[in-house]
Amino acid sequence: MPKRAKIAVIGAGGNVGASVALWCAIKELGDVVAVDIRINDVLAVDGRMLDLAQCGPMERFDANITATDDYSKIAGSEVVVVTAGIPRKPGMSRDDLIGTNVKIVKSVSENIRKHAPGAVVIVVSNPLDAMVYTAWKATGFATHKIIGQAGCLDVARFKTFIAMETGFSVEDINALLLGGHGDDMVPLPRYTNIAGIPVTQFISEARLNEIVERAKAGGGEIVKKMGTSGYLAPASGTVQMVEAIIKDKKRILPCAAYCDGQFAVKGLFVGVPVVLGAGGVEKIIEIELNENESALMKTSADHVRELVEVVKKLDPTLG
Ligand code: NAI
Ligand code: 2OP
Repeated sequence: MPKRAKIAVIGAGGNVGASVALWCAIKELGDVVAVDIRINDVLAVDGRMLDLAQCGPMERFDANITATDDYSKIAGSEVVVVTAGIPRKPGMSRDDLIGTNVKIVKSVSENIRKHAPGAVVIVVSNPLDAMVYTAWKATGFATHKIIGQAGCLDVARFKTFIAMETGFSVEDINALLLGGHGDDMVPLPRYTNIAGIPVTQFISEARLNEIVERAKAGGGEIVKKMGTSGYLAPASGTVQMVEAIIKDKKRILPCAAYCDGQFAVKGLFVGVPVVLGAGGVEKIIEIELNENESALMKTSADHVRELVEVVKKLDPTLG
């Protein structure tokens, strides 16, 4: 009998982490170890996970769900998802979180290195690309085992707005997006189609540009309406990645991966199309970019590089 996979979610007392745990359970991807510093408290991880476990008989999933603040319980996890950290409030950018979250992600990563050295790590905490870098440095893991979730969410926002505009099924919309998880991310209309038909056959260039801009600012739009970051769609994006790894699906997904010259980016984690399987990032797929797209990618990567410099300044041990 194959044993169930084990998925650890760090920060699972919070909105994104609890939602990741929910979808992992409902999709029966494996047993879930939910870690948070908030335990035995109001809105704590143990309460949220007990609530989730009680969905099992109705949603018909079998999964052991353990809530804990003890990192030794994550031993043997195939995948560890990191959502620990503060989210932004209205008026804040993702970059404003860096001072607090670099400390949190560093300490979480040191625990992952100690207790789950064989895991593939998916980082979700913001500012995303800089936190992936932090996790890489603090775990010391090989680059293919450290990945950031941003592109799955950002491209899903872009696809959603295209579906809203055209009235066509979201299932038929294919799109690609590159760059960092900031407002300078790079959706690629040239690589966007609806059931194989170029999107420009259905939406004018001017309107498409408005949709691109809405997708780029999509995180902020939600923060303004909810007072905190979205969590259902971010968790859904994360679980797409968890599933690709656990089931060795070889999916092609936009993820923050370590670029060593690909897309003219060297030594940084930035959003690019990758093949995701049991080994983590198995390959980065390069595509041809025109002059304008290359310039946008460079601007986005330069922004990520600036954030990484801030990380190194805040904590020289991460240099
Ligand atoms: P939240 O505040 O609801 O949850 C964060 C959780 O982390 C809390 O339960 C907190 O107790 C826990 N935590 C803090 N320090 C910890 C530590 N040292 N060890 C273990 N747990 C710790 O926040 P939310 O909304 O779940 O967001 C989490 C992070 O994800 C934020 O940084 C947010 O900006 C980011 N985010 C990223 C997205 C992406 O697409 N990459 C999308 C949405 C949010
Ligand atoms: C988002 O894009 C805040 O990164 C978070 O929703």
